[in-house]
Amino acid sequence: MASLVVVGAQWGDEGKGKVTDFLAQAADWVVRYQGGNNAGHTVVVGGKTFKLHLLPSGVVHERVKSVIGNGVVIDPLVLLEELDRLRDLGVQDPELFISDRAHVILSYHRLQDELEEKARGDAKIGTTGRGIGPAYVDKIGRAGIRMIDFVDPERFRKRLETVLPAKNNLLAKLYGARTFTVEEILAEYAEAQARLRPMVCDTSYLLDEALKRGERVVFEGAQGTLLDVDHGTYPYVTSSSPVAAGAAVGAGVGPQRIGTVLGIVKAYTTRVGSGPFPTELKNATGDRIRERGREYGTTTGRPRRVGWFDAVMLRHSVRVNGIDNIAVMLLDVLSGFDEIQVCVAYRVGDETIRSFPADLELLAQCEPVYERFAGWHEDITGCTRFEELPQAAQDYITGLERLVGVPVALVSVGPGREQTIVRKQLL
Ligand code: IMP
Repeated sequence: MASLVVVGAQWGDEGKGKVTDFLAQAADWVVRYQGGNNAGHTVVVGGKTFKLHLLPSGVVHERVKSVIGNGVVIDPLVLLEELDRLRDLGVQDPELFISDRAHVILSYHRLQDELEEKARGDAKIGTTGRGIGPAYVDKIGRAGIRMIDFVDPERFRKRLETVLPAKNNLLAKLYGARTFTVEEILAEYAEAQARLRPMVCDTSYLLDEALKRGERVVFEGAQGTLLDVDHGTYPYVTSSSPVAAGAAVGAGVGPQRIGTVLGIVKAYTTRVGSGPFPTELKNATGDRIRERGREYGTTTGRPRRVGWFDAVMLRHSVRVNGIDNIAVMLLDVLSGFDEIQVCVAYRVGDETIRSFPADLELLAQCEPVYERFAGWHEDITGCTRFEELPQAAQDYITGLERLVGVPVALVSVGPGREQTIVRKQLL
C-alpha cells in the first residue's frame, strides 16, 4: 500500500509523532491534514528531541517532503518560529509545501479563544488557547483568511477590511476587549507573509501527482478521535476532524487514496482538558503512570489526566475511523505494576453498556467493568522483537487485540526510533 493515515484513537497525545517519524523512514511525503499548533508531536532522533506543533513529523528526514494541508489552521508566527528552531537543531530548509487553501490564525483569534474560555466559566473546555476554535469558526462562517490571500499584501489588506469590523464589534461590544487595526495586523505579519510566500501552492495537485507516481504518503492526524468535532466527546472536543476521513478532506485527495488506517493508542489512556473520562484514576496508580509516562502536555505543560485502557472507547474509534491496525505506545510505562486493568464495558445501575454513548451525562455516570491482566516487572525498553517481551506483556497485547478486534502492528517500548517492535510491515 502506497499510503496510510495515522490517527489518534483516544484523546490525543498517543504518540502519533513517534509513529509518523518511524514510518517516514520509508515514506516520500508526510502530510498534516487538520488541527494547528494545538498539537504537540515529540520526535526523538539521535538523542535530540524535536517538539513539533505545526510542522509534519517527517520534517526531520532529509528526503521526506512535508505538506501542511488545506484542513490545517496555520499561525504564521508559530510556523516561522518552528522553522527557525529546527534550523538551530541542524535541520536546514526542509522541503515544505503549504496549501494555498489553508486558513490562518491571527492574533485576534488567540484573544477570542481566551475570552470565550473565560466566559464559559465552569463549563470551560480547557482549550490550548492557541486560537484554534475561533479560526475554524471563521473558516466555516466564511470570514476566514486563506494562505493564498495572506501572502499577497493587497489581498490580505482587502480581506482584513472585510472581516475586521465584525470581529472588532464582537471583541469590543461582547467582551469589552481591545480592537485591532488593519495597519497593525499588516505590520505584525509582514515578515511571515514574505517568508512563507514561496512555500504556498496547490498541495492537492502535488499529492495527486505523487500518488500517481506510486510515491509513499503518510497522512498524519493530530489530536484524536475522542476530540473529533463529530465523533468525540462534544463539546469537549477540538474544532476539526482528526478521524481518518478528515485526511481526504484536509489534504484534498479522494478517500480511496488514503490506503490503510493505523490507529495509535497508549497502553493506557490520558486526556487533557475537561469532560467525562470513565477509566480515570484519581489515585496513586494514576499518579505513578503520570510520572512514569511524563504525562505533561507538550503544548501547554498541563498535567494530563490518566486512566486504564478503555476498550469500549477503542471499539468506537475502530468503527468511526475504519482502523485496520493499531500501534500500542508507551508499553514500558506499565512495567512494574502487579496488575493491569482494561475496561471492557460500562455499567450504569443494572444496565451494561457496550458502545460508547453520545450522551455525556450518561458517560459521566458510567462505571468501568474491568478485565484484569497480570503485570510484569522486567525492564522492556531494550526489547526489539515481540517474543523478547515478558509473557505477561505479550498477553496484554494479545488481550487488547481480542478486546478491540484489530491486530497490533507496532509496539513502542521507549521514545527512540529503535525502541519500536514491528509485528507487521505497514508501508
Ligand atoms: P483546542 O483544540 O485548543 O480548541 O482545545 C480543545 C480541546 O482539545 C481541549 O480539551 C484540549 O486540551 C484538547 N486538545 C487540543 N489539542 C490537543 C492535543 O494535541 N493533544 C491533546 N489534547 C488536545
